[in-house]
Amino acid sequence: MKMQDILKLLSDSWTGYTDLVHSTLRSNIEPLDSLNSELLSNSGKQFRPALTLLMSHACGGCTTDSLHFAAAAEVLHNATLFHDDVADGSPTRRGKPSLASMIGPRAAVLVGDFWLSKAISLVLGTKHQNRAIPLFSGTLSNLAEGEMLQLDKSSSASTTEEDYKRIIYCKTASLFESSCRSAALAMDAPALQYEAAGSYGAALGMAFQIKDDILDYYGSSAIGKPVGEDLAAGLITLPLLGAMQACDDPSALRSRVLQIKDKPELSEEIRQFVLDNGGIEYASEVLDGYIAEALNALSVFPESPFKEALEQIARYNAVRES
Ligand code: IPE
Ligand code: IPE
Ligand code: MG
Ligand code: MG
Repeated sequence: MKMQDILKLLSDSWTGYTDLVHSTLRSNIEPLDSLNSELLSNSGKQFRPALTLLMSHACGGCTTDSLHFAAAAEVLHNATLFHDDVADGSPTRRGKPSLASMIGPRAAVLVGDFWLSKAISLVLGTKHQNRAIPLFSGTLSNLAEGEMLQLDKSSSASTTEEDYKRIIYCKTASLFESSCRSAALAMDAPALQYEAAGSYGAALGMAFQIKDDILDYYGSSAIGKPVGEDLAAGLITLPLLGAMQACDDPSALRSRVLQIKDKPELSEEIRQFVLDNGGIEYASEVLDGYIAEALNALSVFPESPFKEALEQIARYNAVRES
């Protein structure tokens, strides 16, 4: 199923979500207002709001709260990307200069703050705010904690597979989980469906970040952001952890990763090592395990085109190139 088919399936819900995002991001400060419009005209895959709306329909329908949670998830996600590109010093995003390289890191942080505040305002005022506020604020803490843990582990090149999984749960899977849980909340779904929505979102989020990390090793320009950035920053992700298992002296390899910042030419050597030692295959196997987990979680929902779309999105993640 293509994104176009999903949008057709979501129809009025998708229009409602899009209108809400645009109206929420209006500002009386002119440069900010036109900047927001420009940013919205180059939106990404909008995976998270698609999940919220599909999950909401899989639970029986779509309410104003569903639209608010979908919009909050996407606005929050974008805010974290503006900040992430400052933190990572990334020059491109979605095939264009990143916000940080367009307007400088100081202004980009402020635009990120504005979008973050709008994400919060979208959750406030929903009928389910008592449960939704802790849900989304927990995710926000996870995002910051995940990025901090990643920074800390990369400074010593000591990331283990357990650390890696914790990092990607915090920085990516937690928001997927909240995007899906909030949909069940909006529909007052039974506890079984609320838990299943969370399990689906969390497992798919893990798979999504593992795919992003695989694409960092061999992605094409279709991804619209720099390839090889993780290794260049000294990040140890799953493909490298997988290849390391075939290595006689992993600690020597870890110290080479630590030297990358001073000797960027080491990146290519390590990348080749990962490709030659089954790193991509290992990461793909772990990814497939998470996709199976996500599909399994959907079994509690009644059959519907929305459930089918959720299944297809999970499968599509294994083969996506952007
Ligand atoms: C990028 O997310 C950050 C990760 C969690 C890997 P997306 O790949 O969803 O980014 P956009 O919004 O489509 O650009
Ligand atoms: C994911 O981290 C970004 C956030 C969850 C904020 P990455 O740094 O891996 O994402 P990309 O590769 O820049 O999109
Ligand atoms: Mg980044
Ligand atoms: Mg990345």
